[in-house]
Amino acid sequence: MDAWLKKSSKNANLKPPAAAAATSSSKAAATEASTSDGASFPKIKVKSTAAPLDPARQPWVEKYRPKSIQDVAAQDHTTAVLKKTLGSANLPHMLFYGPPGTGKTSTILALCRELFGPELMRNRVLELNASDERGISVVREKIKTFAKAAVSPPDPNFPSPPYKIIILDEADSMTQDAQSALRRIMETYSRITRFCLICNYVTRIIEPITSRCSKFRFKPLDQANTKTRLEYICDEEKVHYAEGSLDTLIKVSEGDLRRAITFLQSASKLHASADDPITPRSIHEIAGIVPDSTLARLVEALGVELTTASGDNDADMLDAQDVKLNSSAKNGAKDGFARVKTQVEMIVREGYSAWQILSQLHDLLILDPLLPSVAKAAIALAMGEADKCLNDGADEELQILHVCLQIRAAVLRG
Ligand SMILES: Nc1ncnc2c1ncn2[C@@H]1O[C@H](COP(=O)(O)OP(=O)(O)OP(=O)(O)O)[C@@H](O)[C@H]1O
Ligand SMILES: [Mg+2]
Repeated sequence: MDAWLKKSSKNANLKPPAAAAATSSSKAAATEASTSDGASFPKIKVKSTAAPLDPARQPWVEKYRPKSIQDVAAQDHTTAVLKKTLGSANLPHMLFYGPPGTGKTSTILALCRELFGPELMRNRVLELNASDERGISVVREKIKTFAKAAVSPPDPNFPSPPYKIIILDEADSMTQDAQSALRRIMETYSRITRFCLICNYVTRIIEPITSRCSKFRFKPLDQANTKTRLEYICDEEKVHYAEGSLDTLIKVSEGDLRRAITFLQSASKLHASADDPITPRSIHEIAGIVPDSTLARLVEALGVELTTASGDNDADMLDAQDVKLNSSAKNGAKDGFARVKTQVEMIVREGYSAWQILSQLHDLLILDPLLPSVAKAAIALAMGEADKCLNDGADEELQILHVCLQIRAAVLRG
């Protein structure tokens, strides 16, 4: 047991350097503790004798988390650079950023595993989930303690470079003060400690930190890579699916592989009992996509009309090409409010999330070639404001009603 672990056993609030393989299970076993500055973080119960989690009982996202850099799909540039560092065993401080479910956490965990092996990782890698542990006191105490601890002896079976790695996941939720406090630590202990910061919004990381790191941008997964990965999982899990199901899954997950895998697992559960293949319709149901016919009614009340009967097939998203301005709606403007309100009430009662409704409305209207640009600008503005209000905790129904009325006004203005 190295110096750090000895220290950690003295201080019950310190989480031992994370064994990435055990991350999810240890997170689940964690109990919340509070620091002096109010930030709470998990107090880990280390069970060295615990039996490994049966893969069959793991969620698929964890079961199919890439085990090596080689397994990471799509992010070619990042994986190419990291593979090179595996050879030279020289690692800069790193900053991974990009949308959710694109492989950031998986990549750094896989890299650590390849560098140190599962055993040595326990001593050499500290993984902090910055959403929980973001106070300045955590940086001063926990991170600094680990950063300056001596490097434990290498594992002869792995490259085991002579430094430790501190992973700060979700670093964009760290306070500015905590980030500032990190600057000096990154420099002082860089000989024996490398940092990997991970975030969704790189603009929330202060400039002095970004300039100390090599930046790696993670892109939403492209269709081909997502499909290959999903097909692989379907093969492994013996999932039967009807034609078009995977394409629908790819479409609704919008480059987020985690979401795609989660939906796939839910759909397979849904169909397992009936023993029939997964269908695009059930994917839509699970993803909470508003059916074409429902959306069509709302859109019509907003003064936009569908010209073809694409609404017959709920499994397909509405085609923006099929939408055109309904001039007759201008004449019926008097009862406009009542119609919009009724439709909004109905759609909200169906239980669709406001985000989903807005997102589908957005795709439909902004991509419509016949809507004037001025109207689109007004619509985009209204949606942006509603998004902010929803993030701030506003009422979903009121926000949708507000956006819809603004859309209607913009459409009528032409
Ligand atoms: N590039 C990828 N290659 C293979 N699997 C991936 C990839 N991206 C995501 N996954 C799958 O999605 C799951 C979640 O990925 P991961 O935790 O790495 O996402 P993330 O980018 O860290 O997301 P977040 O920003 O929400 O933390 C993984 O367990 C894995 O199953
Ligand atoms: Mg992550």
